[in-house]
Amino acid sequence: MTKGFSAALTTLLFAAIASCSPVNDGNGTASTGSSFTASSTSAAASASPTVPYASDDPNAVLWTQDSNILPEPERGGLGGSILGPQNVPIELQNPDLLAPPTTDYGDIPNAKWPMALSHQRLQTGGWARQENKMAGVNMRLEVGAIRELHWHKTAEWSYVISGYVQVTSVDQNGKNFIGTVGPGDLWYFPAGIPHSLQATNQSADGVEFLLIFDDGTFSEDATFLVNWLAHVPKEVIAKNFQTSISAFNNIPSRELYIFPALPPSTTQAPSDPQGTTPQSFTFPLSQVPITPLSGGSVKVADSTTFPVSITIAAAEVSRGTWRDEGVARAYFLKAFALCIIYSYSFDQWHPTQDEWDFYLEGTGRMTLFASQSNARTWDFQAGDVAYVPASYGHYVENIGNTTLKFLEIFRTDIYQDVSLAQWLALTPPAIVQAHLGLSDETIAMLNKTKQVVVGPAPTS
Ligand SMILES: *[C@@H]1O[C@H](CO)[C@@H](O)[C@H](O)[C@H]1NC(C)=O
Ligand SMILES: *[C@@H]1O[C@H](CO)[C@@H](O)[C@H](O)[C@H]1NC(C)=O
Ligand SMILES: *[C@@H]1O[C@H](CO)[C@@H](O)[C@H](O)[C@H]1NC(C)=O
Ligand SMILES: *[C@@H]1O[C@H](CO)[C@@H](O)[C@H](O)[C@H]1NC(C)=O
Repeated sequence: MTKGFSAALTTLLFAAIASCSPVNDGNGTASTGSSFTASSTSAAASASPTVPYASDDPNAVLWTQDSNILPEPERGGLGGSILGPQNVPIELQNPDLLAPPTTDYGDIPNAKWPMALSHQRLQTGGWARQENKMAGVNMRLEVGAIRELHWHKTAEWSYVISGYVQVTSVDQNGKNFIGTVGPGDLWYFPAGIPHSLQATNQSADGVEFLLIFDDGTFSEDATFLVNWLAHVPKEVIAKNFQTSISAFNNIPSRELYIFPALPPSTTQAPSDPQGTTPQSFTFPLSQVPITPLSGGSVKVADSTTFPVSITIAAAEVSRGTWRDEGVARAYFLKAFALCIIYSYSFDQWHPTQDEWDFYLEGTGRMTLFASQSNARTWDFQAGDVAYVPASYGHYVENIGNTTLKFLEIFRTDIYQDVSLAQWLALTPPAIVQAHLGLSDETIAMLNKTKQVVVGPAPTS
């Protein structure tokens, strides 16, 4: 652990801070992460007698998706052009895969999945596509269209991307719930709680949202009311509902999944002798004020503010938490010569939980650092999914000239992360100095308050 920690610290520090130091031009010497591992000899008074200094190469992103170039796997004196076929649009979108920073090293499992590569399930009334690392589903319902009444063994957390949707539910105590959510709002259904989703007519386009399930093996293609009834003998159905068999003459023979219907005509749940659910299954996150930060803003919703999952099936329910980071304008690529880094989310690693990200707007860059020097960098566009295994050190940097907006989702009840700069700021300076050889002045500049999203660094 100590070894990985120390290496993480070195790598992240240079990703975050040294890249904005004055650039030692002409020294593109590739210093792979492997040289960092020996620095765990914590008794050393300074890093230099033990291992060489890490490269000063700023390792900037080399192009953007809008660049009018033929991208090649070349960085500094490394690499060479491609003679064979190229998929230029994909290569333009992924500069850090084609021409990785020299700080990348070894292997990290793929962390990027564009939703555009997911199979699209087309229905009358809408569509759905999914990604199965944590399990995320992107779904669209036209006005009035219904996502069939269903339940599943995992909790369902959702963020509304566009439009409005009415959600209904009945809990294990027979208490019911109805609510409507719009852009930027959330809903959450604990595992096993049956529910439905229906686009209202408040937007002519219906609704699009993101569903997250806390189990990568989860499939949306299961556990439907209609499909269930279609697989129960009619005689049993009649007995169960105390009706004749003919009362169920018109039930469909298989699932409906997504299907058209008239938009909801009421916002009231049927009167319920048991009462309504004790806690709301929806959360008006769009109305929560943002927390402004030097490099953008952040909103956090977890069980401290959206408590539904605390009292219901507490032991088994994992709760969705999320963070929305809107980072201000950035001109990273153009500005690189001046070494101005606009707006990137702070280095962090999440001690216990995997992280699932969805990019809503803009272009981001992320390096994952595993341990034993393994590090890899990816670039993300709106509509992409990123997956960060628990405790992998990482940052997200805005590399576009527009706002970068993305969701971070964790399988946990309370959002938490560890900030690299805060860690260093609150460690005895002599210890930090012995590891990293920072000047007193640099150490004094480290902020003792967690910053989360930081703006441009000083240029000199
Ligand atoms: C370049 O970096 C390497 C390794 O960090 C170092 O040994 C060398 O002296 C540097 N060269 C220059 C010109 O700074
Ligand atoms: C943003 O960048 C794109 C290309 O990267 C460019 O076409 C556009 O003009 C830039 N917009 C601004 C406001 O600088
Ligand atoms: C939306 O539906 C409600 C309830 O049925 C109805 O009162 C309202 O007129 C509808 N609005 C539009 C724009 O169709
Ligand atoms: C540290 O962060 C706090 C809160 O974000 C801010 O008010 C303060 O100015 C920062 N201090 C330094 C030295 O940057």
